[in-house]
Amino acid sequence: MKVINLSEQNSVLNMYLREIRDVDIQKDSLRFRQNIERIGEVMAIEVSKALSYQPTDVQTPLGIAKVHTISDSIVLATILRAGLPLHQGFLNIFDHAENAFLSAYRRVGKDGELEIVAEYMAAPSIDGKVLIVADPMLATGMSMEVGYQALLKHGKPKHTHLCCAIATPQAIECVRGALSDSPDVTLWCAAVDPVLNEKKYIVPGLGDAGDLCYGIKIHLSDR
Ligand code: URA
Repeated sequence: MKVINLSEQNSVLNMYLREIRDVDIQKDSLRFRQNIERIGEVMAIEVSKALSYQPTDVQTPLGIAKVHTISDSIVLATILRAGLPLHQGFLNIFDHAENAFLSAYRRVGKDGELEIVAEYMAAPSIDGKVLIVADPMLATGMSMEVGYQALLKHGKPKHTHLCCAIATPQAIECVRGALSDSPDVTLWCAAVDPVLNEKKYIVPGLGDAGDLCYGIKIHLSDR
């Protein structure tokens, strides 16, 4: 699995990343969602450089122009709910893409360990297509792994791009191990942060991306 950390190059991406991390700026949920969406747009343009293209003739009012257009069929997938703005950023760029949505949540299993439960999935066939999975926070890598395995029930993609805003080395290794028999996978991120805290949040990270986008959730078991 190839890993590309886009913050190794200076670009406007770092400004959006700075704003989603900043404890004062991120309180504005509209701006937070817009910044995540803009990260998705910049990342989509980077991913577009790795796709296949074919020359196409276009009739203009004055003649025929040759344009190289994307020949891959693209499926954009995301994990509810925090992935929605990142997904929208990709969809703004790949506006003809098909879409897949999955739900996954963390729960403490019988053994006391954190586990990921995937329940809902609405997806087209991904067979032979380029699959882009948008999940902003790659903390442990477990949701990405569970989500990817669930998507594989819908076919074998030609290539998969796993796209996140912030990843950890632990998550990258988890995904690398879990997907070791899938050679056609690229992981893109806008930053790699060093550690997780005891609640499995990325440090320094940015906090809970889903809550910052859509407001605080309550767990029925906490009532
Ligand atoms: N999900 C988040 O929203 N934030 C983290 O730090 C980790 C997982």
